[in-house]
Amino acid sequence: MSRSVILLGSTGSIGTQALDVIARNPSRFTVRGLAAGGGRVDTLARQAADFRVETVAVADPAAVPALKDALTACGSAAEVLAGAEGVAELAARPCDVVLNGVTGALGLTSTLAALSAGRVLALANKESLIIGGPLVKRLAGPGQLLPVDSEHSALAQCLWAAGPDGPRAHAVHRLVVTASGGPFRGLRRSELSGVTPEMALAHPTWSMGPVITVNSATLVNKGLEIIEAHLLFDLGFDRIEVVVHPQSVVHSMVEFVDGSVIAQASPPDMCLPIALALGWPERVPGAARAVDWTRAHTWTFEPLDDEAFPAVALARHVGSCGGTAPAVYNAANEVCVDAFLAGRLPFLGIVDTVAKVVEEHEVCPAESVDEVLAADQWARARAEEITAG
Ligand SMILES: NC(=O)c1ccc[n+]([C@@H]2O[C@H](COP(=O)([O-])OP(=O)(O)OC[C@H]3O[C@@H](n4cnc5c(N)ncnc54)[C@H](OP(=O)(O)O)[C@@H]3O)[C@@H](O)[C@H]2O)c1
Repeated sequence: MSRSVILLGSTGSIGTQALDVIARNPSRFTVRGLAAGGGRVDTLARQAADFRVETVAVADPAAVPALKDALTACGSAAEVLAGAEGVAELAARPCDVVLNGVTGALGLTSTLAALSAGRVLALANKESLIIGGPLVKRLAGPGQLLPVDSEHSALAQCLWAAGPDGPRAHAVHRLVVTASGGPFRGLRRSELSGVTPEMALAHPTWSMGPVITVNSATLVNKGLEIIEAHLLFDLGFDRIEVVVHPQSVVHSMVEFVDGSVIAQASPPDMCLPIALALGWPERVPGAARAVDWTRAHTWTFEPLDDEAFPAVALARHVGSCGGTAPAVYNAANEVCVDAFLAGRLPFLGIVDTVAKVVEEHEVCPAESVDEVLAADQWARARAEEITAG
C-alpha cells in the first residue's frame, strides 16, 4: 500500500533526494505536503505541481506572495501555510511518515509537533534530537523515530541484522561510527589555519548542504552524530567509537561482546537511508547502487586525530554533561559556520569559539522547550560577540 509522506526541507539536499526516491517509486509513496524556508519558491512550487501535493508551507511569511504566484504559474492549487507555525502545523498533519530535512536548530519545533501528533518521524535534522534530547525522547514512542543519517541508519540496520527482535542490550559491546575525515584528513592543526570556505565546501565523498559540509570538515558533524547515537541507541559515550574511513562505504558498525562486528556497506548515496526510513521496515528495491564486487576495492580505517579535530572530544564532553550543553555546542557552531562562510572567522576559530562558549555555559536540565531555546539564544549571542572580535 502507498505510504503518504510530508517532507520538510524539500528544496534542500535531503529533500530533493527524497523526492527523487519517491518519483522513482510512485506506487510506494505519495507526497501530501512540502515545506521549505522560502529561499527557493520556484523550486518549491514546481515540486508541489509535480507531486500534486495538497499543502505547501513556507517558513518566511514574506515569501508567500511569490510562492502563490509560482504555484499558479505551475498549475498547482495547493493550500499555503506560512511561518514557523505553518511548518509545524504541516508536520502534525495526518500522514504515514514525516521526513524532517530542515537544517539546524530551527527544525526542533517541527520534530516536536510531528511526534506530539503521533506521527512516525524520519529524522535527518539531527540537530533537533541533539538539542532537544530529553524532550524529544520523552515524546517518541517505540518505532516512532527513524534515523536518516547514513551512520545511524547503518547502526539501526546492524542491530536489526543481529537478530529478529534486535540484539539483547547486553550483547552489544560498542557502536563504531565511521567518519570520512572530510577534505582535511591527514592535515595537522598547524596546517589548517589557512583553510578557506571554498576548500571546506569541497567534500571528498558526499554532496550535501553547506552547513553539514563545513561541519564535516571540522568534524563537528561527527561530534553531533555521537550525541545522536547516544540518544537513539541508549549507549554511554565510552561505548561509542569514531573511526576514520575515507571511502565512506562502511557507514558504521556494531561490535558485540564476543568480538564479532556487523558492518553496513554501500557506496555513498543518501537515497538508501532516506528510502529505508520512508519505507521502514521494508527495503525499497533499487533505492541505490550496491557495491560492485567485480572491481577491486580498498577500504581503510584509521584513528581520529583528536588534536587537529577536537570537535569530537568536545561533543563527548557536552553529551556527557547533557541538559542544555548539546544545544549550546550546536548553536555556537551554527553561528561560527555562518561567520566562517562570510569570511569573518578563520577555520580553526569555529571549534575554538564553540569550546569557549561551552566552557562559559552553566548547564540546565533542558526539561522544557523554553529552557532549550534560552540556552540556544544565549549561545548564539555569546558566539556572535566572540566572533565580532
Ligand atoms: N545533505 C545530506 O546528505 C545530509 C546527510 C545526513 C544528514 N543531513 C542532515 O539533514 C538536514 C538537512 O541537510 P541538507 O544538507 O539537506 O540542508 P540544505 O541543503 O541546506 O537544505 C535545508 C532545507 O531546509 C529548508 N528550510 C530552511 N529553513 C527552514 C524552516 N524554518 N522551515 C522549513 N524548512 C526550512 C530549506 O529551504 P530553502 O530552500 O527555502 O532555504 C531547504 O529546503 C541537516 O540537519 C543535516 O545535518 C544531511
